[in-house]
Parts: sequence; structure tokens; C-alpha cells
Amino acid sequence: MIWLLALHIIALLVWAACLLYLPSQIRLASAAGDTLTMPSSEYPSLTRFIYTHVATPAALLAIAAGTLVFVAHQIVALWLVAKLTLVVLLVGLHASLGLLVLRSERGETHRLPQATLAAQVVAVVLMVGIVWLVLAKPQSLGGLPGLHWIG
Ligand code: HEM
Repeated sequence: MIWLLALHIIALLVWAACLLYLPSQIRLASAAGDTLTMPSSEYPSLTRFIYTHVATPAALLAIAAGTLVFVAHQIVALWLVAKLTLVVLLVGLHASLGLLVLRSERGETHRLPQATLAAQVVAVVLMVGIVWLVLAKPQSLGGLPGLHWIG
């Protein structure tokens, strides 16, 4: 089963890297008044290509592999519930990043630098929270007792 956990970690590292890199690419491209168009490509921008062909598949693979690890180990614990809550927020951030990609392609740069910076800060906070929960596996959270049941 270690290979499934390894696949989960590799995919989430690629996803995490994209969530941190793409906002910078959007911000710098819009500052340069360019949308990083790829010559002779059917993709409107390099940013869109990375979002659709790297970040999104990595997210889906991380979530699928994580779910298989959770099903295989039959883990039901408060730390995992809290972790998955943060993962849902991370998926929401991923979707918002897609909207920022579309805005940058349309040249809508109003407040785009602030929005991309906020996306990076939120990504860091959520990912630090997720990794802390999965490595520390706190027995209780905010006075809430753990839900320990291992099948
Ligand atoms: C639906 C999404 C996800 C599910 C169901 C899931 C589930 C799991 C499970 C069951 C484990 C094994 C925990 C253990 O027994 O020690 C695990 C490990 C891990 N997960 Fe996830 N995960 C998900 C998403 C994520 C995301 C988005 C991140 C980071 C951004 C993440 C970071 C980690 C890390 C770092 C480990 C390895 C912990 C260790 O080394 O022991 N996971 N995940």
C-alpha cells in the first residue's frame, strides 16, 4: 500500500507547486501586459495549459490516491475529517484560480495582482494546516474528542 501513499504525496506536491506558481505567472504576465500566449498552440495561454494539463490532473490524482488510502486503511478519525474540510477549501481555491486564469486571458487586470497574492497566501495557510493535521494527527481539536474507529 506504500506505493498508493507515495502516489498521493507525489501528486499533492505537484498540485501544491502549481497552486503556488500559477498566481505568480498570472501576476507577472498581466504586469507585462502579456498573457504568455504559446506560439501556434490551440491553448489560449501557457497558464491555461498548466492549469488544465498539470494542476487539475495532479489534484484529481492526489484526491483519488488519498481516498484509496483512506478506504484501504479504513481510517475514521477527527484529524482526517478536519483535513478533508481544508482539502475542500483547497479545491475551492483551485477553482477560483481557474477564474483568475480566464480573467488574465481576457486582460481584466483590475485587482488581479491582489487576487493572485491572496490566492498564494490562502494556499500556503491551507496546505500548512493540512500537512500539520496529517502528520500530527491531533487526538482532539478545539476540545472536540477524537473519533477513533479503525476497522
Ligand atoms: C480527498 C483528499 C484527500 C484524502 C482522502 C487524503 C487521505 C490521506 C490518508 C488516508 C493518508 C494516510 C494517513 C496516515 O495513515 O498516516 C494521507 C496522507 C497524507 N496526506 Fe492526504 N488526503 C487528501 C488530500 C491531501 C492533500 C490535498 C494534501 C496536501 C496538500 C495531503 C497531504 C498528505 C500528506 C503529507 C500525507 C502523508 C502523511 C505521512 O507521511 O504520514 N493530503 N492522506
